[in-house]
Amino acid sequence: MYYPQELIEQIRLENDIVDVVSQYLALNKKGNSYFSLCPFHNESTPSFSVSPDKQLYYCFGCGASGNVISFIMAKENYDFQTALKFLADRAHITLPEQGDVYQASKNEALKSELYEIHKHAARYYYDCLKSDLGEAARSYLDKRSIYPKTRIKFGLGYSPEKWDGLYEFLLGQGYDIDLLLKSGLILRNKKGGYYDRFRNRLMFPILDIMGRVVGFGGRVLGEGGPKYLNSPETLIFEKSRNLYSLNFAKGNKELILVEGYMDVISLYQKGFTNAVAALGTAFNESHAKILNKYAKGVIVLFDSDEAGEAAVLRALQFILKTGMGVKILQLKGAKDPDEFINKYGPEAFGKAAQEALSHIAFNISVLQKKYDLNISEEKISFTKEVSKMLSGLSSPVERAVYIKEAERLTGISESAIKAEIEGIENAAFKTLNTQRKENYNYIKKGTLSEKGIVEAKKGIIAIVSERRELWEIIKLRLRPEEMGGGVYEDILRKVYMLHEENKPINPADLVSLYQEPSEQKMVSDIFTTTIAQNDLSGLETALNDQLKLIKRNYIENKMNITDDVKELQLLMEEKRNIESLNITLKDS
Ligand code: CTP
Ligand code: MN
Repeated sequence: MYYPQELIEQIRLENDIVDVVSQYLALNKKGNSYFSLCPFHNESTPSFSVSPDKQLYYCFGCGASGNVISFIMAKENYDFQTALKFLADRAHITLPEQGDVYQASKNEALKSELYEIHKHAARYYYDCLKSDLGEAARSYLDKRSIYPKTRIKFGLGYSPEKWDGLYEFLLGQGYDIDLLLKSGLILRNKKGGYYDRFRNRLMFPILDIMGRVVGFGGRVLGEGGPKYLNSPETLIFEKSRNLYSLNFAKGNKELILVEGYMDVISLYQKGFTNAVAALGTAFNESHAKILNKYAKGVIVLFDSDEAGEAAVLRALQFILKTGMGVKILQLKGAKDPDEFINKYGPEAFGKAAQEALSHIAFNISVLQKKYDLNISEEKISFTKEVSKMLSGLSSPVERAVYIKEAERLTGISESAIKAEIEGIENAAFKTLNTQRKENYNYIKKGTLSEKGIVEAKKGIIAIVSERRELWEIIKLRLRPEEMGGGVYEDILRKVYMLHEENKPINPADLVSLYQEPSEQKMVSDIFTTTIAQNDLSGLETALNDQLKLIKRNYIENKMNITDDVKELQLLMEEKRNIESLNITLKDS
């Protein structure tokens, strides 16, 4: 069965290579990559690298390389289809299967009945809140300053103090018991009787992105535990795929991520309609992906206690990986956003939000609490830790800002901190370079000329992919067929096309155009083993050498097979022309 390329890409995107590989190997971060001992050959120093940016792995020792799909193929001994299935399952993506159409439509029918049941249940709880039964719940809401129109907006309700209130109500609507059990709202006891999951609780319907009720959270009125009871996961409610209030918050460029139902609701009624919360489960990677899908940036605003701070650090890991903008807000003078906004009002909240910290500033402030900066040794350790953090930053502006901040906090001079960062970077660079040299020697063992041509083809593709402005120049001088067929010709053509359409070029996407491990490796090698030339003249020389080598090789091959004298003369002429070909690059 062949899957559409978009589906393959989706599966690849939902399986971050660093996550997948870390399930097999212990990865250590060095510079922009992760390293570990290579699983594909025997070694005692780590030369297996994983690049989160390129989403590729590469071993400097044995040359193994590929994307996340290749990795699973190699590690699990799977073919392409099986590896794809494995990764799809891992990301909870359902692959279309022939013969599965019947099951799929059965599930659809069941789902729509479950949506119906939840709608009825929400209505029932809502009516109970308005009835005589709901008096205590209503005064609780008054006490928490939840306005009547907010109650309506969020569909708040009350589950009365009865064993079978909802059960009787839903039976009355004609639903059969199997279906009610599947909804998670009704449970069976040991004696075979049935009872409601929620009793005597304030009810918060949980809506999905399309505004359908998919579950409930129920809060006790007053004290007593558990404080919150949530619906279990069902066919229509997957906790990791839902954020509370996202259906209202979506459309905002920036979202506020808070911990609780009450935080979301209180912020909403005071004008901050962009708050969402992860429910009944800790904020995880899927939540981060959802945030990234719906917004450009997020402010993480968790409770002001130590647990809240730990949760922020955890959430940050996932959010940073998505590449979306993130800030952290820690409120003072209240235990959570709900209390803060009720105590100090929306203006104060808006002002505090303006002062949210960047993740680096937040990390520095967390680190700072661990050290006593009045003690020299601790000050040095602190500075070292901060330097390590800053060495991971690629933006020079951000760096400069935080180096200043570190100077302010420690009194250690800017230049000393800079030197510390440089030292860390040099060490990382040195390991990388020795590994590269070893690998280069390894490659050289093959026949040089053949290797040279392959290296040239790889080099050209890497350059054209990375630098759009050079594509403009090279496309006029190198036709894809001059790559001599096979993977390199296909990939160069594909890269030209992507540039033409103004689309981004993702190395890992190109790898999964192929199902054969040897071909996947050829593609990922283009992006992992070619060494980028940093200075302009080096790049220029490399470019010209590579172009000439490829074109010469193409013509010589043609000369070898032709017996037409006329054509031979033309080819010789063409070959002479190649020598005069010379690209000059201008500083720009
Ligand atoms: N939560 C849960 N089960 C619990 C406690 C909490 O599922 N036993 C979840 C709820 O989604 C809750 C969130 O964790 O909203 C945050 O918990 P907490 O800060 O205790 O709740 P608040 O929303 O602040 O509730 P309240 O202000 O009513 O105390
Ligand atoms: Mn609270």
